[in-house]
Amino acid sequence: MEKTFIILKPDAVQRQLVGQIISRFEQHGLKIVAMKFLQVPLSLAEEHYAVHKERPFFKSLIEYITASPVVAMVLEGPNAIQMARNVVGATNPLDAAPGTIRGDFGMEIGRNLVHASDGPDTAKAEIALWFGDDIVDYQRALEPWILE
Ligand code: RTP
Ligand code: MG
Repeated sequence: MEKTFIILKPDAVQRQLVGQIISRFEQHGLKIVAMKFLQVPLSLAEEHYAVHKERPFFKSLIEYITASPVVAMVLEGPNAIQMARNVVGATNPLDAAPGTIRGDFGMEIGRNLVHASDGPDTAKAEIALWFGDDIVDYQRALEPWILE
């Protein structure tokens, strides 16, 4: 079982797409094991996107992610990292396939609605950074109808 870290970015909250976006993950069968609504502090934003520190878009990326509250969550499932990236779609909504979140709701790379961890190491680090040990262990009644 794998865990991945997701952010519904400020545009998702401002555009009142939170419910629709969470539904995309839920209907796939990914299990919510942590969630919170928060205004992202500057220090957390900079640490989360530290890998992009030297990129020309870093300043606008930090302004974007701290502009308004976000929903952060951890999703669990077999191959959850790749599954969530598939549901989210390509980084630039212009390249994202219809049926993906970015492909259905986005227009530009700087307003691409969602973050999803890109690999096992980043998922682990991001979950620790945003949630520490605050992951909820529980059983879903429908589990055998989602996973064989
Ligand atoms: P994310 O980390 O947010 O899930 O997105 P990603 O893996 O698909 O893309 P990544 O390369 O990690 O870029 C992080 C975020 O930076 C913004 N970005 N802007 N203006 C630009 O050229 C540019 N490139 C990236 C996007 O918000 C992207 O999601
Ligand atoms: Mg990324």
